Amino acid sequence: MSKSPRRITILTGAGISAESGLGTFRDVGGLWSRHDWRDLATPRAFARDPGFVLDFYNWRRAAVRAARPNPAHLALARLERDWPGEVTLITQNVDDLHERAGSRAVIHMHGTHLRALCAACGHRWPAPEVMAPDDPCPACAAPRSRPDVVWFGEMPYHMDRIAAALEATDLFVSIGTSGTVQPAAGFAAAARAAGARTLSLNLEPSRNAAAFDDSRFGPAAEIVPPWVEELLASG
Ligand code: OAD
Repeated sequence: MSKSPRRITILTGAGISAESGLGTFRDVGGLWSRHDWRDLATPRAFARDPGFVLDFYNWRRAAVRAARPNPAHLALARLERDWPGEVTLITQNVDDLHERAGSRAVIHMHGTHLRALCAACGHRWPAPEVMAPDDPCPACAAPRSRPDVVWFGEMPYHMDRIAAALEATDLFVSIGTSGTVQPAAGFAAAARAAGARTLSLNLEPSRNAAAFDDSRFGPAAEIVPPWVEELLASG
């Protein structure tokens, strides 16, 4: 890296949590190879069979609660703490492993299944361990509780803040994401068009590999910590 970047924007996906024991979506054996996302991750699926959808997220929530942050999450928390410039951390993940590793300002663009959302009035509250279709909303009492996650066909959260970060960043780094799901799959190209260098840290080339200036391949827990150390040494 020739000149040290001041502003760094990082996008993480399921691959960063893989070594914490949480499954990814599209790898061999991934969640969407075993389950049809149309039955689990759309507003229509929830309207058709809320119990089935909530059971799936109850199972995922339990898996997240049992998981621990891995060295990649810890390294990103250290970067946020010690980098003299600005670090913006955007995640597509609905787990809280970045926060438990110590990251403070995580942008959860796909929401979090540790929070419940009332589909009737929009109120949000901490999700109980087990959600049931007739749980009443604490604010309006409607029995329309759902996980506060973004489903296919819904608008991701915090897009204004993300667009501003992509526009201003000097370095964009994508970690553990297949580059398949929009709009996140377009962030590298947007950052590059605004003048940033782009780096991919992934197990293998992602679908949007052409949008990256540099790449390093390997498990996140092995390749993210040395990258962070190099960056901190250069800053
Ligand atoms: P995917 O499952 O599509 O991609 C995971 C990526 O991580 C792949 O490119 C893998 O090669 C890589 N990977 C796997 N293990 C890894 C490891 N140990 N270290 C580093 N990389 C590894 O997951 P996402 O790209 O996050 O959306 O999926 C994006 C969105 O699709 C998710 O947020 C979710 C899903 O449907 C919603 O639920 C709305």
